[in-house]
Amino acid sequence: MKIVVTGGLGFIGSHTVVELQNEGFEVVAIDNLSNSSEKVLDGIFNITGKKPIFEKMDLRDKASVQNFFKKHNDVAGVIHFAASKAVGESVENPLLYYENNISALVYVLQELAALPNVNFIFSSSCTVYGQAEKMPITEDAPVQQAMSPYGNTKQIGEEIITDVAKVTHINAILLRYFNPIGSHPSAEIGELPLGVPQNLVPFITQTAIGLREKLSVFGDDYPTADGTAIRDYIHVVDLAKAHVVALKRLLEKNNADKVETFNLGTGKGSSVLEVITAFEKVSGQKLNYQIVGRREGDITEAYANIDKANTVLGWKAQSSLEESLASAWKWEQKIRQQ
Ligand SMILES: NC(=O)c1ccc[n+]([C@@H]2O[C@H](COP(=O)([O-])OP(=O)(O)OC[C@H]3O[C@@H](n4cnc5c(N)ncnc54)[C@H](O)[C@@H]3O)[C@@H](O)[C@H]2O)c1
Repeated sequence: MKIVVTGGLGFIGSHTVVELQNEGFEVVAIDNLSNSSEKVLDGIFNITGKKPIFEKMDLRDKASVQNFFKKHNDVAGVIHFAASKAVGESVENPLLYYENNISALVYVLQELAALPNVNFIFSSSCTVYGQAEKMPITEDAPVQQAMSPYGNTKQIGEEIITDVAKVTHINAILLRYFNPIGSHPSAEIGELPLGVPQNLVPFITQTAIGLREKLSVFGDDYPTADGTAIRDYIHVVDLAKAHVVALKRLLEKNNADKVETFNLGTGKGSSVLEVITAFEKVSGQKLNYQIVGRREGDITEAYANIDKANTVLGWKAQSSLEESLASAWKWEQKIRQQ
């Protein structure tokens, strides 16, 4: 069965390609390599013994998207990861984000709308909840006004898919990720942040390896036990596996609605200081960090209620925070040796 993975050479996409291939799916990966490298294909090969079919393509090019789906009109499912994801950059350059995250999505859906039966999985984010009132966050918590153009593209993307599914054969699952971290345990693939990382864990590993002098902890005056912000860190391999489970639900027609939404997290919140302590323990490295002021746009806490994913999807994250951090550290050490 042929599955198209857009952004298939990126961080979450590449781990999902591995899990799909392990389950016997034929994968066609699309990527424009704007935030990834063709070397990722070697990593996937080293893990699975197989490379996906790779189409280097920019999804903002409507004609290319049309040609692609003419060639691959036998596709059973599309997992759409391709997007730009830097919150700060989206504030500086909103049109890039609306073009890449919305126009590209529309072009893909236009082609899928013409097919008789197709399944679609969308990378959404817990950013749609903003600072939710109640923890842990359930899927029916209200979507709040987006705090950045990036966050807005996830909300608009979810709405577009919901509208389109009503009038086409498309069945869809919207997956709201909490904070994906870590790498494949083989360290063959992992996260490759461009420039200065925006996320905590790549910043931690780059500081530990000596690439960054110091880690800044943004704020220790949040209303949390130790004053630092709380997030739900999920191992990327667990996250990738959830995509395969969601895809099978659609392929087997077990979905209860044309569009379903699931939180993907561990259900456990960890503070920045807890993550630092856990990292120091698993890596044996002392981290150089300093507390600085809060970062604009950061919320106090977000962690998932995972009951729906557990009971309806039958999926649960398996890895601990320590295991996730150990894999991120192994990956950081490996890429700096090359
Ligand atoms: N990583 C996170 O913290 C996180 C959290 C929530 C949601 N998400 C969403 O998950 C998805 C995947 O995130 P990721 O962390 O793997 O990001 P990533 O940047 O590693 O992967 C995205 C891939 O898409 C490709 N791409 C971007 N624009 C493209 C285009 N126009 N045409 C073809 N390819 C294009 C990039 O080259 C990259 O390989 C994104 O939609 C992101 O918004 C990520």
